[in-house]
Order: sequence, then C-alpha cells, then structure tokens
Amino acid sequence: MLRIAALLALIAAPLHAEEVTLRHGELTLLGDFVQADETAAPVALITHGTLAHRDMELIEALQDVLAERGISSLAHTLSLGIDRREGMADCDAPHIHRDTDADEEIIAWIDWLADEGHTNPALIGHSRGGRQVARAAAGRDDLSAVILLAPATTRSAERGRAGYESRFGGSLDTLLATAREAGADDLLEVPGLLYCPDARASAASVLSYYGGVPTGADTYLSDITAPVLVILAQKDDVLPEAPATYIPLRRPGLTVEVVEDADHMFLDFYTDDAGDHIEAFLAGIDAPDERDTVIDFAAADPEYGAYLAQECSSCHRASDDTQAVPALNGLEADHIYLALEDYATGLRDNAAMGLVARSLDDEQRIALSAHFSRLDD
Ligand code: HEC
Repeated sequence: MLRIAALLALIAAPLHAEEVTLRHGELTLLGDFVQADETAAPVALITHGTLAHRDMELIEALQDVLAERGISSLAHTLSLGIDRREGMADCDAPHIHRDTDADEEIIAWIDWLADEGHTNPALIGHSRGGRQVARAAAGRDDLSAVILLAPATTRSAERGRAGYESRFGGSLDTLLATAREAGADDLLEVPGLLYCPDARASAASVLSYYGGVPTGADTYLSDITAPVLVILAQKDDVLPEAPATYIPLRRPGLTVEVVEDADHMFLDFYTDDAGDHIEAFLAGIDAPDERDTVIDFAAADPEYGAYLAQECSSCHRASDDTQAVPALNGLEADHIYLALEDYATGLRDNAAMGLVARSLDDEQRIALSAHFSRLDD
C-alpha cells in the first residue's frame, strides 16, 4: 500500500527543480537546476531577459520542455547587484548594476557547472539575455553550443537610445554628461533606466547601459566559435527587425529557425516549438550538419558562372550604390549560396529573389556563388 502511494506521488510530482546558490564577490546568486532523466545532451545554462528572473513563465516552461527532451538545465537569476535576487527587478531599488555584470555572472555559472562535472555547457539566452550570452560566449572554446531566443539586436539598442526622451521625458545626452562628470559610484536621480522610470542609478550603471556603442547579439556572432542557433519569433513586436537582422547572417555553424506565430515570449506551445528546435540542434552538433558539407566552390566552372550572372546584373550592380539591391561582388561564396537557398525556401522573404532562386538548380547556385565571390568588391 505504502509503496503504491509513494509511486503515485512520484508520478504526480512536478519536475523537480533544485535551488542552487553561488557565491560571487559580495553577492549570492540563485539558480534552479532541473535534472533530466537519461541525458545525452550537454547541460543548458539559461539566462533571462531584461530585469526578469529565473521563475518567469518562459524560463520555467523552457526548463520543463528541455527536461522532457532529455536536456538538464540551470536557469539563473542575474543579480543586478542585489544579494539573492528573486522575482522581477525592483525599479525603486538603486541601480548599481552594470551591463557587463551579466557576462561575469554567466561565466561564474559556467565555472560552477564545470565544478559539478558539467563541462562544455550549451548557453541559452532570451532577449537582452541573448545579447549578454553572445558577448560572454565570444572567444570561448569550452561551449557545446550557443542558443539565442529572440536575441536583442543592435537596432533595438539604438531604438532604446533614440526613444529615451519620449519614453522617460528627460534628455539622455544631459544624463550622460552628468554621469561622466560624476564619480562611478555616485547615485543619480535619472529620468529612467531600462524599463524603470524615475530611477536612482549609479553613474557607472548609466554609462554601462547607455554610454558605449550600441550593440546586439548580432555584434558578437562572428566571434563565437561554438555552433550557434538563433530562434526567432515570427510575430515579435519587441524586435520586429530580428528576421532581417539574423537571417542574412546564416552560414555553416549559424542556424536560424523561425517559430511561426510566436511572439517575443514564446509562451504555451511555442515553448515546445523552441524546445524541438533546441533538441534537434543539440542532437546534430556532433553529427556533421548537411549544411556544413563543404561545397567545393573552387571546382565550379567559371564560364558557366559568368554566363548565368548576366541575369543578375539587371538588378545587382558592381557597387552598392542603389542600396535597395546589394552588390554581390566579393561576398563569401557560402553566404551567396545559403542566401539563394533561403530565398528559394522563403526563409528570406523577397518576391523577386524568390523567383530568381527557385529557377536555379544546385549546380547553378554553386557556379554563381563561386563567380561573385571571385570578383573584386
Ligand atoms: C529583379 C531584380 C533582381 C534580380 C534579377 C536578381 N536579384 Fe538578387 N536581390 C534583389 C534584391 C531586391 C535583393 C535584396 C533582397 C532583400 O532585401 O533580402 C537581392 C538580394 C540578393 C542576395 C543577398 C545578398 C546579401 O547581401 O545577403 C543574393 C546572394 C542575390 N540577390 C543573388 C542574386 C543572383 C545570384 C541573381 C542572378 C541569378 C540575382 N540575385 C538576381 C534583386 C534581384
């Protein structure tokens, strides 16, 4: 009897998340570790978006969805300078955190995982967390994969600055000038910081979020050596420019998937869709990706390429003076080849190029890619 009751309790139990802590400087950082049964995949380290936390709906759901797919994960809460921070950030607390603190905390958790025997994790980041993950991952050689969910773009950072005054009713230029005059730790009354209006923030915090060159995850992708998967939400109102930003960056080693109808938060069954993409991607990182098959562009017939290219020159000129139609000369052959594939499948959405790309067979795409890559830009 007792046995059966225990068994029933086990079946009914929610997925078990174990709270884990990490001492980081003066602070204690909190995370939830969810252990999947029968894992083959690397452990995923999950970083949330701006001012959010590890128990937000998307992150909790993602941990469940990954565990169901045999992927253990650790979701951590960025401290934002607050000891044992939990829940949404408190806008009224003084903001002494800096943008780059996140990178240091991500790296501290990578080290913590390694100490626990989980080497070579896969990093996952959502929104601004995606940008922070991309930056932390750049140049590292100990990651299995980097997975970015609706990652922040350079455009979104630029928009945040351009819209600062209309959003918070104070001039960003004036604030930056004041912050540059002040001592790093001086607390300033600011019109707003991130999503918080009328906040108190240290000069260092203000400068870290608004003082440098605006960046997005797109800024760091070329410096990441681990395989990258970018998962975009088709109906992302927060980052409407995401497809146009990330899809053209596709190359062997950088996969982009778009979850149809999902919005920026990937809730409900869109979390499952994201989980499916992550599972398939992690399963494939050890196997050669079909898109990684090295195409021998050098073997392509130059005359055939030049002949086919006549059709392109009615729109594509040698130099980029029209803006609307990019110049092709000197682009990487891989890039041209993947672009043609993406126009043909519709992943890159352009009516004219869709028609052109679908009319070409594989040999023709290879010949054209080789041709344009050999021309001087
Ligand atoms: C009817 C005009 C037209 C023709 C003909 C045309 N293109 Fe394009 N092409 C475009 C436009 C417009 C874009 C930009 C679309 C976009 O914004 O994604 C483009 C974009 C591209 C890109 C993406 C470049 C990048 O920077 O990512 C490639 C590659 C490309 N075209 C290859 C070709 C090839 C090869 C041919 C000839 C077989 C060709 N195009 C013929 C209009 C044309």
